[in-house]
Amino acid sequence: MAIIYDEAQSIFHLQTQASSYVMQVVRGKYLSHLYWGRRVEQYRGSRAIIWKDRGFAPNPDDTDRTFSLDTLPQEYPQTGNGDFRTCAYGVRQENGSRISSLLYDGYEILPGKRKLQGLPASFGTPEDVETLVIRLRDELIDLVVELEYNVFDQRGIITRSVRFLNEAQRPVTLTKMLSMSVDFREQDFDVLTLYGAHNNERNMDRRPLTSGIVQIESLRGTSSPQQSPFLALMRKNADEDQGEVYGVQFVYSGNFLASAQVDAFQNVRLQMGLHPWNGEWYLHPGETFQTPEVVMAYTHEGLNGLSHLFHTFYRRHLMRGKHADALRPILINNWEATFFQFTEEKLLNLARKASETGIELFVLDDGWFGHRDGDNSSLGDWFVDERKLPHGLPWLADQIHGMGMQFGLWFEPEMISQDSQLYREHPDYVLHAQGRPYTIGRGQLVLDLSRKDVCDHVIDSVRAVLASTHIDYVKWDMNRHLTEMESGAYGPCQQGEISHRYVLGLYYILETLTSQFPDILFEGCSSGGGRFDAGMLYYMPQSWCSDNTDAVCRMKIQYATSLTFPPVTMGAHVSVVPNQQTGRVTPLETRGYVAMSANFGYELDLNALSQQELDVVKAQIALYKEIRDTIQNGTLYRIKNPFNGNLAQWNFVSQDRKQVVAFHFEILSQPAAPVQLLKLKGLEADALYRDVDRGTVYGGDELMYSGISIPLKKQDFRSECYRFEKV
Ligand code: DGJ
Repeated sequence: MAIIYDEAQSIFHLQTQASSYVMQVVRGKYLSHLYWGRRVEQYRGSRAIIWKDRGFAPNPDDTDRTFSLDTLPQEYPQTGNGDFRTCAYGVRQENGSRISSLLYDGYEILPGKRKLQGLPASFGTPEDVETLVIRLRDELIDLVVELEYNVFDQRGIITRSVRFLNEAQRPVTLTKMLSMSVDFREQDFDVLTLYGAHNNERNMDRRPLTSGIVQIESLRGTSSPQQSPFLALMRKNADEDQGEVYGVQFVYSGNFLASAQVDAFQNVRLQMGLHPWNGEWYLHPGETFQTPEVVMAYTHEGLNGLSHLFHTFYRRHLMRGKHADALRPILINNWEATFFQFTEEKLLNLARKASETGIELFVLDDGWFGHRDGDNSSLGDWFVDERKLPHGLPWLADQIHGMGMQFGLWFEPEMISQDSQLYREHPDYVLHAQGRPYTIGRGQLVLDLSRKDVCDHVIDSVRAVLASTHIDYVKWDMNRHLTEMESGAYGPCQQGEISHRYVLGLYYILETLTSQFPDILFEGCSSGGGRFDAGMLYYMPQSWCSDNTDAVCRMKIQYATSLTFPPVTMGAHVSVVPNQQTGRVTPLETRGYVAMSANFGYELDLNALSQQELDVVKAQIALYKEIRDTIQNGTLYRIKNPFNGNLAQWNFVSQDRKQVVAFHFEILSQPAAPVQLLKLKGLEADALYRDVDRGTVYGGDELMYSGISIPLKKQDFRSECYRFEKV
């Protein structure tokens, strides 16, 4: 049993193979947090709350000055009645009152896990997961708040979400509705977040958590490359391999907030959920509001331990469909080879060369529709541009299939260009604020996906292409953020709902299309890795990691992305040098090894390569086919962090633990360079492993503890790959 309820003490103990999470109903009314951390077999009450009369901490009951909401560790903190820290939710009654008080009103334990209506969320059978629902009630306004905890015992994961029910006869506006809140009665954490930009996604930022609040957020209408919806609290001594780490990740693709607040007594409040800015919800009598889900992982095995929990969980309980477990095809994408300037002949020449090298999927990127010769026209006109493709898409797809490859196609369905037939017919489809000018991004506007008719139009227009052409893969792009998040389709008191309604509309579209075309492999993209989040992963089991394909930058981007996302989800391509984004010239071998460390492909003009380079490409493809299962289905161990210096190292161990693939990268060549060691991880200490390329045999303990000496080389951006097979 993953959920244990001790009635005598009113204690809930959620237990996984790795962790325990303990709550108590205090004084019959207040749901308080006792413990989240390493698994304890049985919680008997050791971490009791110490009651103390603290200055400026007001009391609900004047007969007991030691009891204050301001010092109580809470599970879902309220607002306006004595807890001065950040609240988890907010309301506005019709009369303008914003005070709310939630008291305990019972619980339910359910086998399995309910679906979250209209939202991406983890799933599992009753053998995988058990659910606890705790009901809280604001008696004055008949607002019920159900806190849901899903305990994936074998996976070491707990997920949380919240449902609001308006049981009153009057409407109420929710002004804040976070998905989780945890009060740690502990100090001395570092906080780790991932920040970035277009071309520079997911940089690791670890800093001490001192007084005040660390808050990350997105107000861009998408999860954003600027901040990822992920936050971890780490013990000071925690590193890749040991130490306590608490990671939370939002299963959502729009505006979010994550924060860690240190209070006056050094307690830490960790929260995550929908961003309250422009994020209200108007609840009519009888209506409910469901928040998205947060995935919570605890480990005492450092960041690698955290990643293993997230990777397995996402692979088994979030990614869906036949492609979730399937090996992914090696692709070539024409974007960086041609940009908008292509002809049928150019594409077929590229495809022919690709099939000769062993590539398995040809992807036609932007520019195949309307009259799109640049980025300022035709979005919304999802019909083929016969100037460029006179024989049409079905014919092109047949040609590609005839070469033994699959065929993939790019779309950007959430957008509309002013220079498009769609805009001329439906200018009202645009997300906009009445009477105000449009804010334009990359020459384009955003469709108002808060409207069902607009969503249905998107579904119909994309479906028409998918149904008439033999398409195996779709790249779903999204190249600007949302502005003027308002909609004429809703009344004044609902304008604060539009950013969330946009995301719900997008999920409705994705759910419809991915279930109608289950054979198609969908890859998410947003100007590179701008919407690489767990919400999108539910619909699309892979995502383009970054438009920055420079090998050195990619080492970092992929390293940090792998904190929670398995390598199979990260699209990684070899492109030309000098690199289009950085101007850097790195060896083809290194570009290959970096891209091979994830979901491998190419994005360059193969016809412009020399024979020698083509031979290298062929060898890379052959190698990837040999190691693909280990990279895509195996376990990743990060060894050396490129954010910390000149080296990057990692290795993969196959599911059956028989194959090991390790990569070593040295960014700049140095004078008087030290000899570097590669100490592998995740091997069996007492097994023997044969170096496949060199023939030597080593013990697992030797490879892990003593390590391999890497020969010195005078070369910038050098790389090595080692493959071992268990003897
Ligand atoms: C942004 C993507 O990240 C690129 O890979 C490419 O598809 C372009 N959009 C096309 O406009």
